[in-house]
Amino acid sequence: MEVYKTKAELALFSTNAKKKKETVGFVPTMGALHDGHMSLIRKSVSENNYTVCSIFVNPTQFNNKKDFERYPITIDEDLKKLETEKCDVVFLPSVNEMYPDPDNTQYDLGGIDKPMEGVFRPGHFNGMAMIVLKLFAAANADVAYFGEKDFQQLAIIKYITKRYNVPIKIVGCSTLRDEDGLAMSSRNLLLNADQRKNALAISQTLFGTKQKVNKDSVENVKAWAKNFISQTSNLKLEYFEIVNSETLESILDWSDAENINACVAAYAGEVRLIDNVKLK
Ligand code: PAF
Repeated sequence: MEVYKTKAELALFSTNAKKKKETVGFVPTMGALHDGHMSLIRKSVSENNYTVCSIFVNPTQFNNKKDFERYPITIDEDLKKLETEKCDVVFLPSVNEMYPDPDNTQYDLGGIDKPMEGVFRPGHFNGMAMIVLKLFAAANADVAYFGEKDFQQLAIIKYITKRYNVPIKIVGCSTLRDEDGLAMSSRNLLLNADQRKNALAISQTLFGTKQKVNKDSVENVKAWAKNFISQTSNLKLEYFEIVNSETLESILDWSDAENINACVAAYAGEVRLIDNVKLK
């Protein structure tokens, strides 16, 4: 497994692969790799000649400095896991490599950045889009893999690749969960035992919501979900929304959209967690 720190090394690798008509799969991450990430790596390895994984904790997507400083970093373990899964290249750039000059570009994110995360994390998706487009340009891969846990992020990445004409296929992959239902996330490493127990209310609410589709009104189900979270846990709920899976707009009736997701963000102590399920 090669470890590259510069965009030039990564670009040369992809150019050589392309010359040989070999495909490159790309898994962008911020490290602290868990089994959810590894499922993306395994999918890429099984579908491509080469797999590139980037590990870069991107400062421009953190609207909260403390959140950035606390973000878990486990590089040695990450490299071991990637080696075991036969990842071919790890891209480990410095902040200066990705941002040699201050970048204030504002991206068109099609308005899907506005609800949910957009309300609580202003600027987050602009920074995310900025780094993803920079990474896509450097990796020049054929296909990129992202987890469906970051549901709004995935919708925005699909939008920007079309909007900015990036010739890459975007593949969304199912959320992996611990046995008790908690969605796998790098941030779970920051939870103490009590917080982790409280966090279970998130997936329980989402699974409970799924049972209620078409049996009660959207309004009643939303009220039930918010109440369930506040009564069964010490979580601080930021939002619970039931949305059209394509536009991410809230729906008022189950017949408002063909595909519908329920999405949650909540704090367990200081740790912000998000999750979602497809309702139909
Ligand atoms: O999902 C993540 O880990 C990050 O938001 C991403 C896509 C790697 C961009 O920094």
